[in-house]
This record gives sequence, C-alpha cells and structure tokens, in this order.
Amino acid sequence: MGLFTLDAMATAAAAASPSPAGPSASPDARAHALLARMTEAEKFQLIRSAFGEPDAAHGLAKPAGALGSAGYVAGIPRLGIPAQQLSDAGLGVANPINVRPGDGATSLPAGLATAASWDPQVAYAGGAMIGDEAWRKGFNVLLAGGMDLEREPRNGRNFEYAGEDPLLAGTMVGAAVRGIQDQHVLATVKHYALNDQETARNTIDARIDEKAMRESDLLAFELAIERGKPGAVMCSYNKVNGDWACENRFLLEQVLKHDWAYPGYVMSDWGAVHSAAKAANAGLDQESAAEAFDKEVYFGKPLEQAVARGEVSQARLDDMALRILRSMFAVGLMDHPPQPGPIDQQAHLAVAQHALEAGAVLLRNQEALLPLASELKSIAVIGGHVDKGVMAGGGSSMVTPYGGNAVPGLKPATWPGPVTFDPSAPLAAVQALASGAKVGFASGDDVAAAAALAAQAQVAVVFVTQWAAESFDAADLKLPGNQDALVDAVARANPHTVVVLETNSPVAMPWLDRVGAVLQAWYPGSAGGPAIANLLFGKVDPSGRLPITWPRALDQLPRPQLPGATAGMAAATSVDYGIEGADVGYRWFQRTHREPLFPFGFGLSYTRFAHGEPAVEVRDGRPRARVTVRNTGKRAGADVVQIYVQVPGSPVRRLAGFGKVALAPGQAREVSIELEPRLLADFDTVTRRWVIHAGRYAVYAGRSATELSAPHYVQLSERRL
Ligand code: BGC
Repeated sequence: MGLFTLDAMATAAAAASPSPAGPSASPDARAHALLARMTEAEKFQLIRSAFGEPDAAHGLAKPAGALGSAGYVAGIPRLGIPAQQLSDAGLGVANPINVRPGDGATSLPAGLATAASWDPQVAYAGGAMIGDEAWRKGFNVLLAGGMDLEREPRNGRNFEYAGEDPLLAGTMVGAAVRGIQDQHVLATVKHYALNDQETARNTIDARIDEKAMRESDLLAFELAIERGKPGAVMCSYNKVNGDWACENRFLLEQVLKHDWAYPGYVMSDWGAVHSAAKAANAGLDQESAAEAFDKEVYFGKPLEQAVARGEVSQARLDDMALRILRSMFAVGLMDHPPQPGPIDQQAHLAVAQHALEAGAVLLRNQEALLPLASELKSIAVIGGHVDKGVMAGGGSSMVTPYGGNAVPGLKPATWPGPVTFDPSAPLAAVQALASGAKVGFASGDDVAAAAALAAQAQVAVVFVTQWAAESFDAADLKLPGNQDALVDAVARANPHTVVVLETNSPVAMPWLDRVGAVLQAWYPGSAGGPAIANLLFGKVDPSGRLPITWPRALDQLPRPQLPGATAGMAAATSVDYGIEGADVGYRWFQRTHREPLFPFGFGLSYTRFAHGEPAVEVRDGRPRARVTVRNTGKRAGADVVQIYVQVPGSPVRRLAGFGKVALAPGQAREVSIELEPRLLADFDTVTRRWVIHAGRYAVYAGRSATELSAPHYVQLSERRL
C-alpha cells in the first residue's frame, strides 16, 4: 500500500471521527480541536442537561432521544458528538418511575458493604459490573461514585456511601470509578461536598474550618479523584461555609480545579444551582435538569446574557464545554459508544454476591453459634420478608430489580420509594443449604407465633430491616415497628438465636446480650439470599470489617440532636462540623474517650488470625509497614490488616494504610502496606500544602481502631508533599 493511500485513509478517518485532532491525540488536544469548530449555541447546548423523564408538574415530556433516566444532553451530529445519557447508578443502573417500563438491573449490596470488604478489587468489580450493564443499556454517563463521609449514622443515604474514613472511602470509591470507566462509561463522584445529612439538605450550611475539611471530607474526594479519575464531580445541594456548593469558588475553583488540577467537569446536583454568573465563575460547568429542578434555567438565557455583558468571560464558557468534551474523550465516549445488547445476568449476580460475601460483618458470635451446621434438624427463619427477598434503600440510587419488587405495596409507594425488596429470598437459600432440616418460617407480624416457632427449632434466625432513603434521615437508631420486641421474644424462646441485620447503618440493639450471633448484611443486593446463606453456613468466612463506628447511643455523637430535624427539610439552618472537625467517627470517639458498641474496623471471623509485630521501613520518606498474618484456625478465611498512625502531638490514631489477605488454615503471609503520606501529614492552609512534620510517629497494626499492636516508632524528617 503506497503512502498516498495511507494519507487518504487517514483524512477520511479524521473526517468521520468526532475529533479533528485524530484518535491518537491526547484527550486535551482532541477536545481543543473539537471546541474550535463549535458554535456558541453548541457550547451552550453542552453545558446543561435536560431531565430525562417526563415531568407532569412542569409540563415536561421526556426529551426526544432520551432513553429515560435522570438526565439527557442531545448530541451534535455535525461534529460527531454523541448524546449524553445520564443515569443514576450508585448500586446498579436505576430506572426511576419505571420510565423504561420493566427495565430491571443488577444491584450491588450497599456501598457500605463494598467499603466493608476493605478490598479495592471488590469495589472495582462492582463498578465494572454496573458500567457494563449501563453501556449495554445505552448509557454513557453514570451518577455513580457516592462518597460523602459518614458523620451522621442517621443519614438516610449512608447506604450509598463508603463510610467514615477518608482513606478507606477514597480508595474504595476510586476503585469503583475505575471499574465503571474501564467500560467507557463516565462516572461522577458526588456529592461535593459535606452533604453529610439529608435533613435540610437544600438549605443547610455546613460549617467547618479549612484544615479540618481538607483532612476529612475533601481528602476522601481528593483520593477518589486521584485514583479513579472520574470524568465528572457533582456539587451538592448544601452550602459550605456560607456559599452554595455549586457556586462555591473555594471548593470548585481553588481546591478541585487549581490545587488538585482536576481536568474534568463539575455537574450540579438536581436543583442545586442558584445563579448563572456566580456559579459559572466559581467553576460549575454543567447545570443539571434545570427546567424541572432549578428556579430558573440559569445556564440558558441568564448565562448567555452574562457572557454578552462580560460578567462571565468567553474563556470560562469555552472551558466549561472543553472540560465536558475532554472527559468524553478521556473515558472513551467518542471512540467506544454504548452497544445495546444482552447482559450476562448470571455473571453480574455473581459479582453482587461476592461483594456481600466479602462485606457482611459478623458482629457477635457467642460460643461459635455460627457457622450453622448443615446437619441441623430444624431451623426457624423469621421476619424481614425472608420468604420473598432482601431490603433495598430508596431514592435516586434505587434499582428496579430484574423480576420486579419482591414485596410490592409497602409505603411510601412514590419517591423516595417505592420500598423495594430484591427478589433473592434468604429462606429458600437457607433451605438449599440445610437440605436435611425442617425449615420453618414466620413473618414476625405475630410475635407470639414467631416465638413459638423458634421454641421448637434448634436454631432461630431472625431478620430485621430498616428502610432508609434519600431525602430524609432516621429520627433515631431504633429499628422500626415491632422488630425489637420480635427479636427479644425469639431470643427468650430460643437461646440459639442469630440476628441478620438489613439496615442502612448502625441501629440500637437493646436485645444484643440475649442473642447468640449478629450478622450485619447491610442492604444485601440482588444476590443477598445466597450470600447470607453462604455466610451463615460457613461456605464463606465473614471477612467484612466495619467502615463506620457503631455508637452505643446518640449521646455519644458530636451532634446528639440532628441539626434541622425539628424545623424540617425546608428550614434554613447550619450544621457545625467543627465540633469533631477532621476527627470523624473513630477519631472522635478516641479524642473524647468514648467507647463505641463496635469500633471502626471491627469484624469477627470463623477462623483465627495471629498478627506479627509490624516492621516499618522508610524509603525516600515513604513509610511502608509489613505485618505477617497467620491463619491459626481450622477454616479458610480472610483478614484485614489496618495500619494506624499517631502523628506527634495528636491524641488520635489515623488509618494510614490497609491490606486484606486470604489464608488457608495454617498459612501465613506477609502483608506489605504503603502508608498514605497525607495521613501522616497536616494540611497547611497558608502554603496550601500537606506537611509531614519532623518527629517520632507511632505506627500500630490493628484489627480495628481499638484493637492494636504495641506501637512501632519511626522517625520522619520534615517533608512537604
Ligand atoms: C441526588 C443525586 C442524583 C440526582 C439525579 C438528586 O436528588 O441527590 O444523587 O444523582 O438526584 O437523580
């Protein structure tokens, strides 16, 4: 083939390609070249999405071309720019108001379950599963990557997030984002920032000083963004230190785009925009579903006028469009458009099942009540709609299960409902593993009948549920309805009682001392039934460790009273995160000498592990800890080594690294863990740099935040990161 022919082919390819810079050029070069060919109107088209669902309240039909989901931006065919089809997908691809009739999806267990696995590969696999499902359904932008820190156990969205620790949350969410984007589907980390409660979320002002914020919530975002390279970041509803998050120059321009050099775009939450020029100049790049949610379509006429008047520069408008295009190129939306096609549901169920098997947390196991023996003759299985399925959380992240809601008709039936159960029944799964046993079932509605059933069985397994959803928080830590009375009655009837929790986050367990075992199964997801049964019968060793601190009572929290709770969602109010500052969760408990019910990092196993003393070496200023873990029990299992560091002069120990290791009985392995330098550092707000101060650092290998090895001291010299 002669040179001439090759050139001709290249020219033809460039014409057909959406990028005049050619497919091998960098995403930046391709985005710049494309932007140069865009008209002003086309740029404005790119910087706002439409609501992707019909909206009767505002007289809006589903936009032509939209698949039906949270958002839609029409493509620009003359330039080869594809439409942006945006879907919620924190746990699986959502189908709000059944807008795509009957279109189900696989749901992972709660984000907290994935975080509790302490295994980034589990998070990656979950992200890849969702990304694949989205791509095959035709979506190319996912509102997936939830990671507001758990400062509040009552927060109705905890199940969407990854817990209270910046390193764990940032690592796990970063891995999930990579999983999604490796399928050429753009992911969005959210909600930036400090959207840590739902009560009054549209008005509340989160108050916290810069150092504390940089070392906690913002650090979690920084790590997730660095590791996951998400195409978009979603700014949140609330205010941060007096300014709405979506027009907060400090958050968007200073921290995200300048200090972290983030090249992607900032998309607003649905109804989180309050201005045109201020928001654009502060760093907002795309307004979401404005017609349906904002007071005005700010990035329509008002922004056009602001640009015409020079209040927003042409350069800023260009940058907004450029960032969107750049992310589309970087993730592969231009080169690998979705190919609608069949989904491998069995493979995806296996991913969801593994996530729960790795992330369920065994909280209590008296006299080795668990694992259940397969030779049991009789088991009573009680409560939690176990004959039908497992509980899921509500709101925008809710997934319509394949096969439909297993327990239809529960209230609320409309948003943030319908209350949904994934059709993966624990009862059938228990029956399958205990084929020789008589497995009885009681719904739990009649407490006396349930207790009578329990009294006749060798073992009773009671399931309790707590529905939570976006848009509201729990009033307290109590299990709803008669469930405490149910567990109490069953435990009194049968000393061999196991409780399985399907809850948003911590709940009070007034009956704890009277039950033999407790397994936290979070919201278990599409394969919850078999995963729970495998854990109960020891087909799989429970290896989840709490990604949150489990308080004994609300009075142990920085804010026993939920801010805004008495005034309701609409009230303007503020929340003082300065109380605990950067010391979220376990660090608050340490600092104030409080003893939680279960500490961060805690979780039991069916086998036993022995940890050697940590050895720490520092190379080029970077400490690495090595710990030998031996499985001294009789079963295969996996353990998590948690490295905590006490910075000189600090009263608290911070998680600075972790590693999970699977071991056969008798097997030993050395786990080598690089410590994250920012967890050894302080954030200096004057120089805007992380500083590791010279001094003696105590390094501990932990099984939890409170069960630690003897300290190993290392001397570090001053270093700016
Ligand atoms: C939620 C976001 C979600 C968006 C679109 C908002 O109510 O806060 O997490 O992505 O709706 O559904």
